[in-house]
Amino acid sequence: MYINFLNSVTFCIAIPLFYFILSIFKTLITPPTNLPKSYPVFGSFFTILRNKHRYVQWTAEIVTSTPNLTFSLYRTIGSPVLIITANAANVRHILKSNFSNYVKGDYFTTNMRDFLGDGIFNADGDTWKLQRQVSSHEFNTKSLRKFVETAVDSEISGRLVPVMKLAAGDKTHQLDFQDILQRFAFDNICRIAFGYDPAYLSPSLPPEAEKFAVAFQKAIELSRQRFASITPYYWKIKKALNFGSEKQLKIAVDQVREFAKEIINRKKKQLLIQSGHSDEDILSRFLVSGHSDEDFVADIVISFILAGRDTTSAALTWFFWLLSKNPKVEAEIFIEVNKDKSSSSELSSAYDEVKDMVYTHGCLCEAMRLYPPVPVDTKAALNDDVWPDGTVVKKGMRVCYHPYAMGRVEEVWGGDWAEFRPERWLEREEEGGGAGKWKFVGRDSYTYTVFQAGPRICLGKEMAFIQMKRVVAGVLRRFRVVPVVVEGVEPVYVMDFTAKMKGGFPVKIIEREGV
Ligand code: HEM
Repeated sequence: MYINFLNSVTFCIAIPLFYFILSIFKTLITPPTNLPKSYPVFGSFFTILRNKHRYVQWTAEIVTSTPNLTFSLYRTIGSPVLIITANAANVRHILKSNFSNYVKGDYFTTNMRDFLGDGIFNADGDTWKLQRQVSSHEFNTKSLRKFVETAVDSEISGRLVPVMKLAAGDKTHQLDFQDILQRFAFDNICRIAFGYDPAYLSPSLPPEAEKFAVAFQKAIELSRQRFASITPYYWKIKKALNFGSEKQLKIAVDQVREFAKEIINRKKKQLLIQSGHSDEDILSRFLVSGHSDEDFVADIVISFILAGRDTTSAALTWFFWLLSKNPKVEAEIFIEVNKDKSSSSELSSAYDEVKDMVYTHGCLCEAMRLYPPVPVDTKAALNDDVWPDGTVVKKGMRVCYHPYAMGRVEEVWGGDWAEFRPERWLEREEEGGGAGKWKFVGRDSYTYTVFQAGPRICLGKEMAFIQMKRVVAGVLRRFRVVPVVVEGVEPVYVMDFTAKMKGGFPVKIIEREGV
């Protein structure tokens, strides 16, 4: 009887105690609770859907709070598992050490094929290598010098400055500066890619250019929608039925391709007249080197426009927003761009001038750390693999490195990572015992992945910096860009194919005195 009683007491105390200890243990070993729950069939689809409007921020919050800066996202049946990482060692492994194992992959290329075809952004293996090799000539020093002098500077003096002057003349006039910068970049990239000037920034927009630019934007948006489908079968059925967004996508893509082909034909005729002597733009390079298949050449050109159109404009939009909140930084840039102007001899070129804009370079890097133009980038694993942090990757899984999250890792950038502090990238050189010129201090490209890294690092990185610095100098020497914002309301960073400021960037332009 006594023993039975003792047994019951032990049972009543021991079992709850066991579960209590187990729950403490579980709490200690269980990963953080903000990891999205995954359910059979649908995976985390509904959580993803709930966070769709802030996908980049949501995934960044999760990945920066996991111990090894890596987590897996399970989606609906038919969609491969996605492993997201902000861990620099893993990123180096994906982009360099085991580069051949991580490709664009079928999931991405199928979603983007209608729009991008086999262009460099949608290509792997030999097709990618060929395009990289031929087009890399466009990015050597000689071509870059020419790019500054012809495309960039003439667009600044002939279009950007007059448009801003006009806005400054009317105090009530608001400009969407994001739109202006996109038009600027679009004209620039068309001149490099096609040797064609669509004049998209001119105050009286020619309808042809507008139609192309609008169709291009639509094609991007609608292609991206495919990635948000509950399952890839959904958009494939819609495509087969030529229905809804797929019907619209087809119309937009047809318009873009028709326009690209018109330009290719024009260029072919021009090359014939000049007996093939033209290597001024990417299109000519491919045509001259024997690639006459119109569809393939159109693919190449479309990818280049995508690369150059929204990236620099996104970077500059956020840059000018950050400057407006950091007047001391703006003042330092103003000194730099005017010093360059006054000290440069007649012979020093615009290309040399941008090389000296070290402080501005640091500011642009810092702006892109916080607001990278390409916030996330995804690849597919060809074979099973194990990452440096022990993460097991299975063949066919998709992996994503996350530049937006990587710019917010406290262990890397410090407790003040949320602050815009260009000095992170700069040091003062010593000069006669005092503080001298600014010196740029770069970061490891696998920690700062804004331009990707490794064999597929952005081909246009140098070109982008040149373009952005010329715009900064051209604008700040003459104008102040003042955001029209509701007090306390921050602009919202959203992801299209690249990052955007939601709803545009409304500003007023104020002309500086004495210019
Ligand atoms: C601030 C501006 C820019 C940023 C942040 C940027 C960023 C990137 C990133 C992240 C990639 C890798 C994309 C991927 O593989 O999925 C990339 C690739 C590329 N970028 Fe840029 N880009 C910028 C400007 C430009 C410009 C102006 C051009 C000029 C045409 C350009 C040309 C390219 C090309 C051709 C590739 C493909 C490289 C390859 O796959 O081998 N980029 N860029």
